[in-house]
Amino acid sequence: MATKTSISSADAMELEDKYGAHNYHPLPVVLSKAEGIYLWNPEGERFIDCLSAYSAVNQGHCHPRLIKVMTEQASRLTLTSRAFYSDALGEYCKYITEYFGYERVLPMNTGVEGGETAVKLARRWGYLHKNIPDTQARVVFVEGNFWGRTLSAISTSTDPTCRDGFGPYMPGFDVIPYNDVPALEKALKDPNVCGFMFEPIQGEAGVNVPSPGYLQEVRRVCSENRVLMIADEVQTGLCRTGRMLCCDHEEVRPDLVILGKALSGGMLPVSCVLADSEVILGIKPGEHGSTYGGNPLACRVAMEALQILKDENLAQRAEVLGQRFRQALKEINKPWIKDVRGKGLLNALEVDPEAGVEAWDVCVKLRDNGLLAKPTHDTIIRFAPPLIMTDEQLEEALNIITSTLESF
Ligand SMILES: Cc1ncc(COP(=O)(O)O)c(C=O)c1O
Repeated sequence: MATKTSISSADAMELEDKYGAHNYHPLPVVLSKAEGIYLWNPEGERFIDCLSAYSAVNQGHCHPRLIKVMTEQASRLTLTSRAFYSDALGEYCKYITEYFGYERVLPMNTGVEGGETAVKLARRWGYLHKNIPDTQARVVFVEGNFWGRTLSAISTSTDPTCRDGFGPYMPGFDVIPYNDVPALEKALKDPNVCGFMFEPIQGEAGVNVPSPGYLQEVRRVCSENRVLMIADEVQTGLCRTGRMLCCDHEEVRPDLVILGKALSGGMLPVSCVLADSEVILGIKPGEHGSTYGGNPLACRVAMEALQILKDENLAQRAEVLGQRFRQALKEINKPWIKDVRGKGLLNALEVDPEAGVEAWDVCVKLRDNGLLAKPTHDTIIRFAPPLIMTDEQLEEALNIITSTLESF
């Protein structure tokens, strides 16, 4: 299926390079069309998507149901701002809170805004319900966390690439090792701690899966110390890891859940924080918000995106396909493959840095062979295809990955 556009890949890359900020280092491939698990460049070459826009297109590219809802709503009402009510927001709030079993939702746009919102909610809750002295509230994070690149987010970061050279940093944050329950016990003893924010699997850090039981331990330690458990499910949520939420693997209910990315199935930025009234109602009119947050277009698209996850059994698809995926990758016998890990369709292959094989070079070769994945850090390749992948498409992807890896 060739795509007709007026610009070549080379020209598109040159324009971006010449006129855009250089805040990303994309793999050299230009995309101009997508459908399901496939992407095409302007020259008509087809690729299997194994990144899903960092898990934003769990439902597959340009899902027909999302296109329909989006275009219908876009031609009727897109934005009211929160100065007025819309006929969609209330319905969305009811839908999403019942869907996830929380009392209330605070809608935002991007994932990082969801994180900022969660931190504000936790601080406010700490002042109102834990008697933390004014300005003394602390939120605990973990090493290797990634929740975006705003000043607050980088203030919690241990990655020098996002952090260094942008100080001064936001106070009131502590950082402890990931997957370390004794460190958490110690940190949460501080009576000024109001929240513990973490990813149930660390995506950007390289698909770091914590030990079995960690999520339950986090729940226990948070409850024992009256600290809000804040699960950043922006990347792990919405069926990506084989459950609706990654925390469902251990049947744990966080106090706050942050969602984003696939909440719109790739249509537009939609994020939110889910929690109960005690937390969400701490914020009063005028104290937080965003012009686009909760806009009617986002509300309708999000409801449809969530309904698709259920109608198409995408949690179960991710679980089944993920097991097959890891099994196939583990069968590849190459000394430079250090590790294969993940849950559901959030997986990673780690390259031994001593072996002279670069993750970047592997991704370039995968591209040449018709599959797109992106390194995270220098040695880890994340594989996260859309969850709507069929069994045959998975085998097609595995054939490309296996033969490419064998060629190194
Ligand atoms: C776990 C997690 N939280 C938050 C974010 C930030 O989302 P956004 O880029 O939409 O602001 C990301 C982005 O990759 C993420 O992986």
